[in-house]
Amino acid sequence: RASVSSDVDAFLGCLISKAVPCNLVKTPGTNSYSELLMSTARNLRYVLPGITRPLAIVAATEPAHVQATVVCGRRHSVRIRTRSGGHDYEGLSYASIHPDEHFAVLDLGKLRAIHIDAARSEAWVESGATVGELYYAIGAANQTLGFPAGNCHTLGVGGHLSGGGFGPLSRKYGLSADNVLDAVVVDAEGRLLNRSTMGEDLFWAIRGGGGESFGVVVSWKVRLVPVPETVTVFSIRRSRNQSAVELITKWQEISPELPRDLYLRVLVQNQQADFIALFLGRCVQLVNTMQKTFRALGMTQQDCQEMSWVKSAVFLSFNKPNSPTEVLLNRTNEDYFAKFKSDHVQEPIPKKAWESIWDKWLVKPEAALLQLDPYGGFMRTISPSATPFPHRNYKYQLNFFSFWFENGTEALEKRLSWVRGVYEDLTPHVSKNPRAVYVNYRDLDLGTNELDGNVTSYEKARVWGEKYFKGNFKRLAAVKSKWDPEDFFRTEQSVAPLPAAK
Ligand code: FDA
Repeated sequence: RASVSSDVDAFLGCLISKAVPCNLVKTPGTNSYSELLMSTARNLRYVLPGITRPLAIVAATEPAHVQATVVCGRRHSVRIRTRSGGHDYEGLSYASIHPDEHFAVLDLGKLRAIHIDAARSEAWVESGATVGELYYAIGAANQTLGFPAGNCHTLGVGGHLSGGGFGPLSRKYGLSADNVLDAVVVDAEGRLLNRSTMGEDLFWAIRGGGGESFGVVVSWKVRLVPVPETVTVFSIRRSRNQSAVELITKWQEISPELPRDLYLRVLVQNQQADFIALFLGRCVQLVNTMQKTFRALGMTQQDCQEMSWVKSAVFLSFNKPNSPTEVLLNRTNEDYFAKFKSDHVQEPIPKKAWESIWDKWLVKPEAALLQLDPYGGFMRTISPSATPFPHRNYKYQLNFFSFWFENGTEALEKRLSWVRGVYEDLTPHVSKNPRAVYVNYRDLDLGTNELDGNVTSYEKARVWGEKYFKGNFKRLAAVKSKWDPEDFFRTEQSVAPLPAAK
């Protein structure tokens, strides 16, 4: 511990020498360390006793602070975990499962400027902004522009874009990462780079290769996409005795084939299947499409709600379209304990299998929220190697989001065993060789890194890495060995450098 504390002292001294103001650096015991740590620690499992906390938190307010943190961290053996919105399912941005891990958090929550250039359909957004803030800023500037990103308004732009970013506009325009035009990154040497100075290999890796492995992305230039002035949403709930299983079975076939303007997801919770749609057009046209493609759902004009695209973001995040758009600016969330697992489906799961999942798993009180998110459309036209996200050709994503509020091992074990049990039972029906997982839905059950000498073992990392990235993992490892050969940006699931002989 003596050497740890001298490293930390040296690290803190180094930050001061590089003009990082003292009030931006919090250490345990200082005023507001806990408040800052907890501010976006979204999964309470990773702030429990026994989980390793940061030795310091640097709340950067400008890119120079990011550079200083990387340079000082490297110089004094303090690793960095970067946090933008703190939604990492395994808490990798603010905690470590290793008791002897020795790290500081670089918190980007104050680096969140957004500049919209509506005339060029472009925006610069800093990583600490939330997607809700970005949606709000776009809506305030122009009612016929949008951006493809996730449903939850508090997601941090930094982590979300680093891992891909799937949402209601993805069937029409791809992932967030597919719409990144440029980025400003601090690399392992502390240099501030943009697309032309970093080159195309690093620019490829940061658009979907998962957060933390390659450097710190300070800001992103993104393409804004056209949306109509009026869009339509609906939410139609069906219980088991209102044919929920039959509807889900049918949904699997039709949802990836629907017109690109229509996103129709299903959420199953409390034994109800909620069919939620965003349509880039008017109600009358939507009713027509639904009649032709999914009559069994029984959708009618009464189900429609017409609104602006930014209002639809409120609807999809809160399921309350009448809230003012300002709710998108709220950065706080309810705190919960959580475990997430994700999968992909190629062949529709047979009705019988859905019946047995429902009877065995979904009826239990500890059942997770089941999310079914359709691909197809534009997603399918993008090459699996265009960005590190390779899962372009599946029909849909299948996710289990278990969250609960009571602390204690009993609650934890019950939830974990539910999520792991259903995942296991689904094996015959879902992606295979490898089981395909979306990196933004981090899952340490897939494996964690081990060292090979002083760096992360590539062979061990392949076990989890190829599930997230398939053949792109090797290319990511090659980028890592070029840009961070000493493996400074290291977590339980950071990309390993590719050994020279591979
Ligand atoms: P956080 O700050 O925890 O970062 C995540 C990872 O990226 C960490 O490893 C971190 O170190 C790294 N990182 C963060 N900022 C970085 C930066 N600037 N540079 C480099 N590395 C950085 N996903 C999706 O595609 N669609 C969806 O609809 C949803 N919905 C959703 C809802 C909820 C409630 C949760 C908890 C999560 C989702 N997600 C999602 C998953 C989400 O996209 C994923 O967790 C993102 O990584 C979150 O990014 P944050 O910046 O919030 O997380």
